[in-house]
Amino acid sequence: MTLAGTARAQDMPDGSDLARRAVHVCAACHGEGGRSTTGAYPSLAGQPAQYTARQLMDFRAQQRAETDSKAYMWGVSALLDDATIQSLAGYYAAQTPPAGRSKAPPAVLRTGQRLFEEGMPARGVRACASCHGDKAEGAAGFPRLAGQHAGYLLRQMQVFSTSLRPHGVLMKAEVAGLTPGQMRAVAAYLQSL
Ligand code: HEC
Ligand code: HEC
Repeated sequence: MTLAGTARAQDMPDGSDLARRAVHVCAACHGEGGRSTTGAYPSLAGQPAQYTARQLMDFRAQQRAETDSKAYMWGVSALLDDATIQSLAGYYAAQTPPAGRSKAPPAVLRTGQRLFEEGMPARGVRACASCHGDKAEGAAGFPRLAGQHAGYLLRQMQVFSTSLRPHGVLMKAEVAGLTPGQMRAVAAYLQSL
């Protein structure tokens, strides 16, 4: 694993030595300040600390278990103690989130926006905004979705129909009522925010 990345010690004033060193490793995939430049890796910047910490604990306990989690996050999370997890989570929560961007056609974005704001009551899909926040900014255990890579969001929606993300139980009912096209539309809309 390379120690690329440009996070500096002063970016994490109250972090432990381990947290300061770890953040360089994280940046190799998740980007500087947690703003990832490719859909292969989720952005972490602006993510609520409670959510990030729980994901790191789920990786470390080998409970969040789909292929990419196993391949990329099981090894690195095994090196982190609880205090380091908390300071990394706090660090990413304080970083400026990635700017929204999208090349999707306006009609697709409108479909995604309607799903996000209103859900589809007839199919038992609640409004995403009711849990993820009006601007998809997230809070506490509910992740920020705004500006996240659409490809990553789509992959996670597919994972929620399996049991490979145990803390994703709340999402299981939500994704069950969505067609693949609707998932793509809402993912495109979220990346545009
Ligand atoms: C070699 C590449 C790589 C490195 C290094 C890496 N990650 Fe990851 N990380 C990933 C990938 C890929 C995923 C997405 C896994 C999936 O799709 O389930 C991920 C997912 C995550 C998630 C879940 C994000 C979400 O929105 O649910 C968190 C949190 C995370 N990583 C934190 C870290 C931290 C903190 C470090 C450094 C200690 C780190 N990662 C180092 C590749 C990496
Ligand atoms: C009842 C509350 C609730 C509703 C409604 C809801 N979500 Fe979620 N969602 C969650 C929770 C909680 C998680 C975090 C699960 C975890 O910790 O593993 C999550 C996670 C996600 C993730 C994974 C994010 C990441 O960084 O890995 C995506 C994508 C997502 N939700 C999309 C949606 C969409 C799209 C909708 C609307 C169709 C929606 N959610 C509606 C509660 C909800």
